[in-house]
Amino acid sequence: MQKVPTRDKIKKTHFTKKSFSIHFSLSGKDFSLLLFVPFRPERIYPRAHKLYSTMGLETRGPAGAGFGTMLAGFTSGDGVASLAEPLDPMEPSLRKYINEFWTSRQRQASSLHEISYRACFKPQLPRFFISLLTKKGDIVYDPFSGRGTTVIEAALLGRNVIANDANPLSRIMTEPRFFPPDCQAVEKRLASIPSEGTTADIDLSMFYHPDTEKEILTLRQYLLARQEACRDDLIDRWIAMVATNRLTGHSPGFFSVYTLPPNQAVSQLSQQRINLKRNQEPEYRDTHRIILNKTKSLLCSITAEELRNLNHAGKHARLLTGDSRATPEIPNDSVQLTVTSPPFLDIVQYKDDNWLRCWFNGLNDREIGGRITMARTVPAWSEVMGAVFSELYRITRPGGYVAFEVGEVRKRSIRLEEHVVPLGISAGFACECVLINQQTFTKTSNIWGVDNMASGTNTNRIVIFSKSG
Ligand SMILES: C[S@@+](CC[C@H](N)C(=O)[O-])C[C@H]1O[C@@H](n2cnc3c(N)ncnc32)[C@H](O)[C@@H]1O
Repeated sequence: MQKVPTRDKIKKTHFTKKSFSIHFSLSGKDFSLLLFVPFRPERIYPRAHKLYSTMGLETRGPAGAGFGTMLAGFTSGDGVASLAEPLDPMEPSLRKYINEFWTSRQRQASSLHEISYRACFKPQLPRFFISLLTKKGDIVYDPFSGRGTTVIEAALLGRNVIANDANPLSRIMTEPRFFPPDCQAVEKRLASIPSEGTTADIDLSMFYHPDTEKEILTLRQYLLARQEACRDDLIDRWIAMVATNRLTGHSPGFFSVYTLPPNQAVSQLSQQRINLKRNQEPEYRDTHRIILNKTKSLLCSITAEELRNLNHAGKHARLLTGDSRATPEIPNDSVQLTVTSPPFLDIVQYKDDNWLRCWFNGLNDREIGGRITMARTVPAWSEVMGAVFSELYRITRPGGYVAFEVGEVRKRSIRLEEHVVPLGISAGFACECVLINQQTFTKTSNIWGVDNMASGTNTNRIVIFSKSG
C-alpha cells in the first residue's frame, strides 16, 4: 500500500506562520495533512523544506505556484518564453521567472503619472499586477507610496485605493491627481493670487532669478495661508503639487536655473558650484506659465472614463501619512493587492533630496527624515520589513496578493529579493515566485546606486506572495 503521497497525487501545499499543509488524493479520496510548526517563524521556510525532503516529498513551490505557473507560460511581445530558474540552489522549489513582462513599447502610461519622485517605478509595473490579480472595485494598497504610482494607476483602472508614506510630501503629490481640475480654473486661480512683497527665510539666489523668487514666495505664502485657515481647495492643492514639481530641474520647463533632475534638489552650496562650473546665472522664469503648461501636459491623455474612475477612487481613498509597520486605519482582511517598493537599505537620501520641496510646503525635512527607514545593514532592514509584512498579512484579504519590488544593491553583492522571501513567509504568506522583468534600456543610468541593471538591460525584481483563501 502506498503510504506517502507521490508528487503527482499532491494537489496543493501551503505554508503559514504556524503550520504547513499538504492536500493530496489516494485511492480516489482527498486528504489533507496539517502539520504545526513549533519553531521560530524566521526559520520556518528552510526547516519546512527540509521536512518535505526527509518525507520523500517534492513540492512545486510553497503555494502550489499558481501565479508562477502562469508566468512560466507567459510569452513576451517578441514571442520569447519565460525563463524559469531556482531562486537559490538550496531552495529548488522556489522559482524566479525572467521575461519582458511589460515594456515601454506597451500602451503608453497615462500622462497623469508625469510627476517626478526619487526611485519611483514605472506605471507599467503596478498595472501588470493590478490587471492580473484584481477586479474593478477591489482595494489596491501601497505602504511606501512615494509619488503614488500604484494608487493612481489603480484608480485609473477603476480600483479603490489606500496609500501610505512616512513623508507627507507623498500625499501632497498624490491626492490632487484624483481630482484633476479644469485648466481654465487653474489659470483663473493663479491670476487671483495677490502679489504681496515678501522675503525668503533662506538664500535661494543660486537657484532663482530675483523676480522668479518673488513669484515663488508669493505663491508659497498664499498656499500656506490657505492651508492654515483650512480654506485650501482642490485647485489650490493642484497648484501646490505642480509648483512643488517644477521647483528645480534641468530645462526651462522648471523655475530654477539648470540643476540636477527635479527629484534630486542639490544643496545651496552644490548649486553654487554647478553655476560656477557652467558659468550660468538664473534667468527669469514665468512661474504661472510653467504651472499652466505642466497642468495641460498632465491632463492631456485622460479619458472621460478615467476621470470618473479617478474621482470615484479619490472620494473613497485613504491616504495615510505614517509608518507602514502600523496602519490601524486599514481594516483586517480588506486589501486584495499590495504593489510596493520600499527603500533599498540606505541608498536613496529621501530627506536631502526633498529639502526644497519640504520648504515650499512648510514641512520640516529634518523631522520627516527621522521617520524614513534608512537601514545600513540587511539585518536592520529585515527587522523593519518583517514588521511591515506582519501588518500586510493582517490587512490582506484571504485570496489576496502582495507584489514587493526590491533591487540588487551594494554592487550586486546583495539581492534583496532573497531576504524578502523568508520575511513574507514568516508573516504567514505563501511565496508564489520571484518575477524578474528584464527590459532593454535606452537612456537610464545607475544614478541611485541601485543596481537593477545588467549591461544593456533594466530589471525589476518582484517577490509575489499570496494569502490563502
Ligand atoms: C522607493 S520609494 C517608493 C516609490 C514609489 N513606488 C513610487 O513609484 O513613487 C520608497 C518610499 O518609502 C517611504 N518610506 C520610507 N520609510 C518608510 C516607512 N517606514 N513607512 C512608510 N514609508 C516609508 C519614502 O518616503 C519613499 O517615499
